[in-house]
Amino acid sequence: MVRALIVCTSVSHGNTRKIADVMGAVLSASVMAPEEVDPTELQGYDLVGLGSGIFQMSFHPQLREFVRALPPQPATAAFLFSTSGFSEPPFRRYSRSLERQLEQKGLKVLDTFSCRAFDTYKPFKLVGGIRKGRPDIDDLQAAHTFAEHLRMQTIPAS
Ligand SMILES: Cc1cc2nc3c(=O)[nH]c(=O)nc-3n(C[C@H](O)[C@H](O)[C@H](O)COP(=O)(O)O)c2cc1C
Repeated sequence: MVRALIVCTSVSHGNTRKIADVMGAVLSASVMAPEEVDPTELQGYDLVGLGSGIFQMSFHPQLREFVRALPPQPATAAFLFSTSGFSEPPFRRYSRSLERQLEQKGLKVLDTFSCRAFDTYKPFKLVGGIRKGRPDIDDLQAAHTFAEHLRMQTIPAS
């Protein structure tokens, strides 16, 4: 069985947590906030997932700080996931940027998942938010399928 851990910051509406819980169930992984994780324990896992909502075109500061403070790791498979009002714009590849930082720490990002989610950022709050009801059943199914593919891709360390 793959030993997996999911590190998730979900502070706005719990949107990303819904995605993390589905992935966690598929991978038999605990879902923990960055402040609950001892970075030195990551090396005990075959697969580490990191995710948050997107805030001002970046992953949440708590997740970014967790990655920044990580000590160098033995080669470990990883994945990224996020929820946001909009898709990642081509001029601001925040997933790629976090992926690079993870790679510098020894974590190799196998894949990235993103879906739209309820968004009440300032201008949208005035109209009651956008993407109401997201993540929906289709998003959760997509997260499930994504995690199944990861599980098949990840060979447990002996
Ligand atoms: C202050 C603030 C800033 C946000 N900035 C962005 C953004 O830059 N791009 C985007 O697509 N969504 C943005 N959003 C929407 C969130 O990414 C979205 O609601 C996300 O699902 C929140 O995840 P969470 O509920 O797991 O915290 C923003 C929301 C808030 C409240």
